[in-house]
Amino acid sequence: MKIDFAGIAIPNQGTIVVVVLEERVLGPTAQLLDGKTGGALSRAIATGRFKGKKGQQLAVVAPAGVTLDRILLCGLGKASDVDVPKCESLGGGIIATLNKVGERAAAIVIDPIEGCPLSVARMAAAAAYGANLGGYRFDKYHTKQKEDDKPTLAEISVMCTDPQGARAAYSPLEKIAEGVFFTRDLVSEPGNVKYPETIAADIRTLSAIGIDVEIMGEARMRELGMGSLLGVGQGSERESQLGIMRWNGAPEGFDQQPVCFVGKGVTFDTGGISIKPAAGMEEMKYDMAGAGCVIGLMKALAGRKAKVNAIGLVGLVENMPDGNAQRPGDVVISMSGQTIEVINTDAEGRLVLADVLWYAHTKFKPKFMVDLATLTGAIVVSLGTYQAGLFCNNDELANRLIAAGKAVDEPVWRMPLGDKYDKDINSDIADMKNVGKGREAGSVTAAQFLQRFVNDVPWAHLDIAGMAWMKSGDNALVPKGASGYGVRLLERLVQDFYEAK
Ligand code: BES
Ligand code: MN
Ligand code: ZN
Repeated sequence: MKIDFAGIAIPNQGTIVVVVLEERVLGPTAQLLDGKTGGALSRAIATGRFKGKKGQQLAVVAPAGVTLDRILLCGLGKASDVDVPKCESLGGGIIATLNKVGERAAAIVIDPIEGCPLSVARMAAAAAYGANLGGYRFDKYHTKQKEDDKPTLAEISVMCTDPQGARAAYSPLEKIAEGVFFTRDLVSEPGNVKYPETIAADIRTLSAIGIDVEIMGEARMRELGMGSLLGVGQGSERESQLGIMRWNGAPEGFDQQPVCFVGKGVTFDTGGISIKPAAGMEEMKYDMAGAGCVIGLMKALAGRKAKVNAIGLVGLVENMPDGNAQRPGDVVISMSGQTIEVINTDAEGRLVLADVLWYAHTKFKPKFMVDLATLTGAIVVSLGTYQAGLFCNNDELANRLIAAGKAVDEPVWRMPLGDKYDKDINSDIADMKNVGKGREAGSVTAAQFLQRFVNDVPWAHLDIAGMAWMKSGDNALVPKGASGYGVRLLERLVQDFYEAK
């Protein structure tokens, strides 16, 4: 979808979208259209429930007096409550409606609003960003898509009194959206297409935007002693890979210590010898969403030339049960030297992250590490699909993540860590085992396991098992399927707290 910015001018065709504030307050463009259509807008509003509340929409189709196909009235609530997320979901909601009715072109008018805390440029940019994020589709494998299912909207023009300001505010947002889309594409792809080596190839393409890329194969990881990660990939025909991306955007004189992001990239999780039941197993193609997020985040940061040094590391493995697969009861030696009894081969994400987290902080001495992983079914039981679980050894980092999550509407909920949970993963035969006590506190014991590989580095773990894939499309910015969750959250964390201004 093409998005451009322009001054306010009523088009001759297609749809025009105008904003209505609560208690049916029409802006200047809506009033003008109401006049041209002989009062059609005010009559339409008077007939029903539409009050201009946030999220409400009312379409006036083929109005007399103008050549337009449709005037779409969109509620934005009270002027004083208007904020960036509301403008973003306004944009996303508009796209959903127009694709449903089959519109091809639309003008979205953002009039100045009295008493609104945001500039028109900021509002217009946010609406465009929401439209862009919400308009994403992954339909490359539909060769016979029904006409009725195809998204139609090819371009939108976002109109306001400060189009230049809007374009300037939009340009970094567009780069972030490109990162989100990179993640969504990677996560949407099936396991036969995206496996460790093909994802590594995608990572290599990021060198074109200034990211230093290094890929390690199994031989190098064996030299480094990454027995925990390698054990997981052992039952797969596909070679495991470690992807390392470095973006050096910190200006001279600014803090050069990097921030660091780590992703679980299990490109398919059968469970291994502790095999999963057949029902729903296809979902485990998105078990690389943590890695997908880190890759898209690096693309976003480099794309908008973030003034920070950032490192992304992704452990890419496929968890399969062949004749060489690791067995329950096997003991592996991690890069840290700590030994692990593998009780359940389906608790593989933590085994992958153990070596990547260890490598990350010993090699790069980062300011902090944040890992993302579709780690446990238990977090879905705890928090559902509305927020990710946050486990953190540092209150400042935790609070910053919570704030960033609120700002971009990708919320996180802090969960506990503690000695008693930690004891649950002690093993009789090795330093630790890879599961706790049955189903008790499954997400916490998984986090405790990771914590044994981070030493005292400020570290946060985001369990995104419930957030990576959306079965419904009820969030205007997130179509059904791969959500790209985490890119906007961590981009915002960097922007608000760690970047040179
Ligand atoms: N990838 C799964 C977790 C998962 C579940 C992700 C649902 C997305 C949606 C993970 O590798 C796993 O299998 N975890 C086990 C751990 C258990 C064996 C201790 C689980 O949650 O059942
Ligand atoms: Mn598993
Ligand atoms: Zn998994």
